[in-house]
This record gives sequence, structure tokens and C-alpha cells, in this order.
Amino acid sequence: MSTREPLSAFCILQDSRAARKKKNTLDVNDEIPIAGKLVLITGSNSGIGAAAALELAKRGARLLMPNRDMKKAQDVADSIKAKVPEADLTLLPLDLGDLDSVRGCAAEVRRLVPRIDVLINNAGIQGHESTLNKTKHGFESNMGVNYLGPFLFTNLLLDLVVAAGPGARILFTASALYQAASLQLDDIMLEKKGSFGSGNLGPYGNSKLANMYNAYSLSKRLAGKGVNTYALDPGPVKTDLRRDAKGIIAKIAAPIANMVMSEPEEGAEAILYCALSNKCAGETGLMYRCNGLWEGAMEGAVDEAAAEKL
Ligand SMILES: NC(=O)c1ccc[n+]([C@@H]2O[C@H](COP(=O)([O-])OP(=O)(O)OC[C@H]3O[C@@H](n4cnc5c(N)ncnc54)[C@H](OP(=O)(O)O)[C@@H]3O)[C@@H](O)[C@H]2O)c1
Repeated sequence: MSTREPLSAFCILQDSRAARKKKNTLDVNDEIPIAGKLVLITGSNSGIGAAAALELAKRGARLLMPNRDMKKAQDVADSIKAKVPEADLTLLPLDLGDLDSVRGCAAEVRRLVPRIDVLINNAGIQGHESTLNKTKHGFESNMGVNYLGPFLFTNLLLDLVVAAGPGARILFTASALYQAASLQLDDIMLEKKGSFGSGNLGPYGNSKLANMYNAYSLSKRLAGKGVNTYALDPGPVKTDLRRDAKGIIAKIAAPIANMVMSEPEEGAEAILYCALSNKCAGETGLMYRCNGLWEGAMEGAVDEAAAEKL
């Protein structure tokens, strides 16, 4: 299995930053009306998810906000309410690293609402472990939290999205670091020797590439049902994502990367584009970055047979 050096990861960040500069800002006059519609967004208690939740609340969306840390979720909800007093926010507990919690949260969502107009799988981790770290049910942590949890959650809620009717959307926050992936279907839990090491973003990249596979496969499964799927890269953004970084990443790569990183509000634009833009209303199963289609990314990254198998 090949891995990328930190320098390659930095090049990916630079490229991502350069792509952002070429894009126009979000066109709020070209959005589908979202007022009164149901939007579920995971990982809204910080970073890009919190910024996106605020913008969706401003536009009048009814928000379901499943989060792991409920104290942080309440703080974000309070700050949204302070800015948008009429915001309709429902907080729910969800730990994507615990499949029992995923099932419980999906059951609670089903109890609360008959449909979901936009399902945004945003929550994620960037594990920097130098050895294999596992979720509660024994899955490699990046793959477990970023791919398997959202995969199960989305499947348990799929009929509610279909029930929303034509125009419903499912989003997956992937990453430009899918380019650091070395996904091998016979070792997706990375139990083979040499999969981990300082500065190795392969495990995170694998989980994000798997999100792209998921968006692609779901677009095929949902063909004719009026539901579109989108994978997206928010660009390099200053958030808590690298909170567990140690060694070379924490000391060298992260501080350098911080110099070219965007604010969470800018990162949220990629979510808002895929959730709301009329420009992508006729597209499905593709990859986006900043405020537009990332041309060729999905086609270049996804192997159709592997996507089906995964
Ligand atoms: N920042 C970037 O440069 C960048 C670039 C490309 C892609 N992304 C992606 O963007 C998404 C948002 O990340 P961010 O940058 O905004 O970082 P962040 O501020 O750390 O947000 C991550 C969110 O995911 C939640 N989360 C983590 N583990 C969870 C679990 N087991 N169950 C449920 N929720 C969990 C976090 O909640 P807790 O507080 O409970 O941990 C938090 O709300 C992630 O999918 C990330 O991979 C970020």
C-alpha cells in the first residue's frame, strides 16, 4: 500500500486554496427556496457544519441537528437563536462511531419527521493515530466515523428523503485529501502492516474517497426517484478537525497549512451550494468544491465495480 508524504498533502491544500480563488462567491439569488423545508445536518456543533447550520436557519429551513457533543450543540443552537430568533432547531444525540447510536438516532428522526428534504452528512474526524485506532464496533476510526456510520445512517433514512419528492438532496462532505487515498477493498480496515505512520493521511483519504463512492453508488440506486446526491470538498478550512494531530503534522504541517486556510463560513459555501443551488439541481453523483462542480474528480476517482462492492 502506498502512502503520501506530508508535502503531497500540503500541495493538495494549496491546489484547493487556488481553486477557491478562481470561484465566484455563492449566488444566493440562484437558490431553491428552503424556508419551511426539513434539513438534517450532522456535525453542526462546530466548524463548517455550524456555519452551514446558521446560514440554513437564516433562510428559514427547519433544522434537525444530530451531534455527539450535546453541550457544544446547545451552545451553537443558542448562538443561532441569538441571530435568528425564529430558527426551528431540533437537537439529537448521534455518535457516528457507535452503530447502536446511529440506529437510535435514525429511529428518533423517523419518529419526529415524515420526510427529509436535504440530508447533509457533514460530521467527520481526521485521525492522526500512528497505530490502528478502532470504533466501538471494531472498525478503523476514520473509516468507521467518516464512512460506515454515515453509510448506515443514510440508508436508514433513505425512504424519508425519497418521501420529500423530486428535488430532495443527499450530501457527503468528502475532501480533496481523497487524493491521498490508497483504498484497497481487501483491507478497508487497514489491518495490514504499514498502513499508519506520522504524516500519513491515507486512512483519512480512504474514508473520504469512500464517501465519494457512496455518493456515486447512491446516485445510481436512486435514479428516477427524484433524489440527487453530492460529494463535496469544502476546501482547506481552519476548524477543530486536526485537534488530535501530533508530531510532524501538529508541529510543521498544520501551522503552515493554517496560513492558507479559509474561515468556516467560506467552507460552508460548498455545502450551501450543493444543498441549495439551482445550478446543480440537474446533477447527481458528482464531486464539488467551493461553489461549483469539480470537473472530472468523481470520474477519475471512482472505480464503478469497486463502488458497487463497497
Ligand atoms: N477543515 C477542513 O479543512 C476540511 C477539509 C475537507 C473536508 N473537511 C470535512 O468537513 C467536515 C466538517 O469538519 P470541520 O472541518 O468543520 O471540523 P470540526 O470543526 O472538527 O467538525 C467536525 C464535526 O464532526 C463531529 N464529529 C466528529 N466525530 C463524530 C462522531 N463520532 N459522531 C458524530 N459527530 C462527530 C464533530 O463533533 P464533536 O465535537 O462531537 O467531535 C464536529 O461537529 C468533516 O467531514 C471534515 O472531514 C474539512
